[in-house]
Formats: sequence, structure tokens, C-alpha cells
Amino acid sequence: MTEAAPADRKRVWTTPPNVVLCVLDDIAEPGSRGFVLQIGDAYFHGFVVRKDGEVAGYIDRCPHQGFPIAIEMDRYLTPDGSLILCGWHGAVFAPLTGACVGGPCAGGKLTPWPVKVESGILRTA
Ligand code: FES
Repeated sequence: MTEAAPADRKRVWTTPPNVVLCVLDDIAEPGSRGFVLQIGDAYFHGFVVRKDGEVAGYIDRCPHQGFPIAIEMDRYLTPDGSLILCGWHGAVFAPLTGACVGGPCAGGKLTPWPVKVESGILRTA
């Protein structure tokens, strides 16, 4: 049996709580990191942004055409770290709210992925 290509894999859009993701300091400030969690036979794709002393998680799916946000691994932010940038058609999002503030899905919003930090460890919430 051959393994399904990523695009053909079953997706899930939520995660159980308290899954350890990484040490918070593994993510630059400002910075971002992508995560893929295997849950049973399905996969969850999300990313976390760290900025201004806060963290925010989102499902890795652009509201414009549903593509994953980052073209390059873990590069979800503009070069100056001020906004989330979808690499496909240039939609930009506020890093801590996920609100689209420019581009083809202006007025749209990234879907939040609840995460938390406890004792310096980033976990699902
Ligand atoms: S898929 Fe993100 S801007 Fe088009």
C-alpha cells in the first residue's frame, strides 16, 4: 500500500487539548512556526505566531482559496514581522486577531486554533 500524498490525506480542523507543541522560545519574537499533528488517520495543519509578548494559533488555511498560508516552511509573517502574509495571492492578516487587512479576502478572517503557554511550553488549548 502506498502512502497518500499530503493533498489526499484526511484532514481534521480541531485538536485535543494539552498536546505539547514546542518550547515557546523555539519561536522567534516576532516569528511563526507551522505544526502538523497526526490524529488517528487524519492530519491537522496549523501555525502559531508570536508577537508583542502574545501567541496566537490559526488553522493553516487561507480564507481566500483555502491554500496553506506559507510557501516557505515556518515563514508565515511579512519580512518585518508585522503581518501574516499568504504567499499565494498576497492576503495579509493581523497577527494576533487573524483579521484580513488587505488582499483578495479583505474582511475575511483566519480560523483560530486555540493554543496556550504554560511554564514556557506551547500547548494546544
Ligand atoms: S489563497 Fe491566500 S491569498 Fe489566495
